[in-house]
Amino acid sequence: MTASTPGKDNWELKKAFGNFLTGVTVVTTQDAKGVCRGFTANSFTSVSLDPPLLLVCLDRSAVCFETFVGAGRFAVNILADAQRSISSVFASKNEDKFSGLAWHAVHDSPVLNGCMSWFACDVHDRIDAGDHMILIGRVLDFGHRQATPLGYHNGNYVNFELERHAIEALHSAPVSVGAILEKDGKVLLIKGRQRMRLPRGRSLGEKKAEPGSVFAELKKVGVRASVSFVYSLFHDVHDRLHLYYRGTIEDGPDPANPDVTLVAFQDMDWDSMSDHAATLIRRYTSERAANRFGVFIGSAASGMVSDVGSDIHVHGDDQLGQRHCA
Ligand SMILES: Cc1cc2nc3c(=O)[nH]c(=O)nc-3n(C[C@H](O)[C@H](O)[C@H](O)COP(=O)(O)O)c2cc1C
Repeated sequence: MTASTPGKDNWELKKAFGNFLTGVTVVTTQDAKGVCRGFTANSFTSVSLDPPLLLVCLDRSAVCFETFVGAGRFAVNILADAQRSISSVFASKNEDKFSGLAWHAVHDSPVLNGCMSWFACDVHDRIDAGDHMILIGRVLDFGHRQATPLGYHNGNYVNFELERHAIEALHSAPVSVGAILEKDGKVLLIKGRQRMRLPRGRSLGEKKAEPGSVFAELKKVGVRASVSFVYSLFHDVHDRLHLYYRGTIEDGPDPANPDVTLVAFQDMDWDSMSDHAATLIRRYTSERAANRFGVFIGSAASGMVSDVGSDIHVHGDDQLGQRHCA
């Protein structure tokens, strides 16, 4: 960690501030002549619900500073991932940032088409704050829609779509997919050829329960379930990729079916389970007790990941597997 004295080393301070992951907004207004002005801002913060207030901080050195000092209204537009180029335009010194852009006026302020959320505001207050002005807006009207957000961290845009693409790519590669499914403090195990194992298949099959999928196997043993999060992604010793989800059982299994069983966490017979099932359930049990689930991604040159509580062997050209908060 680097320590720095504020004022003496603003570059380090900027880097330290920049560690705060944010979204990206474009703040817009019209000047007295009706000319549209705007700047990219990640200093947006929601402030109050009643009254509805928000704030953004504007650099005193910005070309549009005087316009915003004189404006009675402004709008904040929260950008979607697809609007990255708009962020760059509004962070530039372009004379006409609105050229070729689709927008419409709401309460006299430009609202950009396609943004995730927008807030048309009256200026509630302006506060001098060092080299910035804090602009507090009272929300007059707003709108929102679902989209992938544009993120910003330490001077770079964050691509939240990447994770989805990675998962999609995984689904098109040869993988084994499984699930840890819980009901009333018990976990579902299926009788394998030699030992008890977690439900698994070539794909998840959540929607159509395709043959060979996890949900097809669940259907066969009379279990209705839903999965929530990715829980683990790792290569086994044969370099096969395994992707495990966690989820809950809504119905079943049939207690008379000898091929399937629900086992309480405190009653696990580890020796009767497949290696993967034992390793995953051990980790799941301790994380469940702490109510702090992680996502394990294994890709280790060292071939062993201790953090998950034992013995998942992993291959790869990367460093030791990481744990991320889910
Ligand atoms: C992601 C991102 C976030 C930014 N956040 C702010 C901000 O919160 N406040 C600010 O004054 N400038 C911010 N900037 C810089 C301005 O967008 C930039 O200086 C812009 O050119 C100012 O407009 P103007 O000088 O053309 O009027 C940000 C830039 C980027 C790329």
